[in-house]
Amino acid sequence: MTSPIIIAVDGHSSTGKSTFAKAIARELGYIYIDTGAMYRAVALLAVRQGLISKNNTIDEDGLRKSLYGEHPAEVSFRISGAGGASETWLDGENVEKQIRTIEISRVVSHVAALPFVRSYVDRRLREIGSAKGVVMDGRDIGTAVFPDAGLKIFMTARPEVRARRRYDEMRAKGQETSYEDVLSNIRERDYIDEHREIAPLAKADDAVLLDNSDMTVEDQIVWFKELLKRRHLCGF
Ligand code: DC
Repeated sequence: MTSPIIIAVDGHSSTGKSTFAKAIARELGYIYIDTGAMYRAVALLAVRQGLISKNNTIDEDGLRKSLYGEHPAEVSFRISGAGGASETWLDGENVEKQIRTIEISRVVSHVAALPFVRSYVDRRLREIGSAKGVVMDGRDIGTAVFPDAGLKIFMTARPEVRARRRYDEMRAKGQETSYEDVLSNIRERDYIDEHREIAPLAKADDAVLLDNSDMTVEDQIVWFKELLKRRHLCGF
């Protein structure tokens, strides 16, 4: 890679964006940022403060106050030594595990649809991206946060494939859930992500599509290296 760039990896939920983005960051010696984690941390904050009712109605004034008020919550990323991966912190606590539960997955799309939450997260992401040499995965990195990113990749896979992967992952972590629940959560999140008013999930015109339904992680890395060669971005 000649001079460092921003690589935007957007796409549907549970397409393995983070696995792919982490791997290419490692290949390039870049920092990896999981932008969904920041929305998850804000959702966790809202849940902990009792700002979300059972039918997913959010106390918007309360959450706005928590993010922008006199004593705003601090959501941040800290880069861990090993591999340059980021960890998510909320008010001085490492919440990497707490933000990955099905409870948070159920409410996070609703929280991420709020304009004031999006501008809160966007501001932090632009600060981090200003140094370049970063791979960010998310939903709107190539369309809204960094429309001038040096390379944009849009990932997708069939919903059933995504649900199976996510289900296996959750079971391996000992989380009780059913395949049907996971599949319906994925379909619901796709719908909300694609239909929200601000920065809906969409492939940027200049993004390269990666459908990894029938690809292993290794296949995807080979694909990525070919892409860099084609774009004259690196001489692997
Ligand atoms: O990738 P994930 O499942 O951890 O993302 C969590 C939620 O955050 C998901 O509902 C979409 C939203 N999100 C977003 O709106 N914009 C991003 N850049 C990243 C995530």
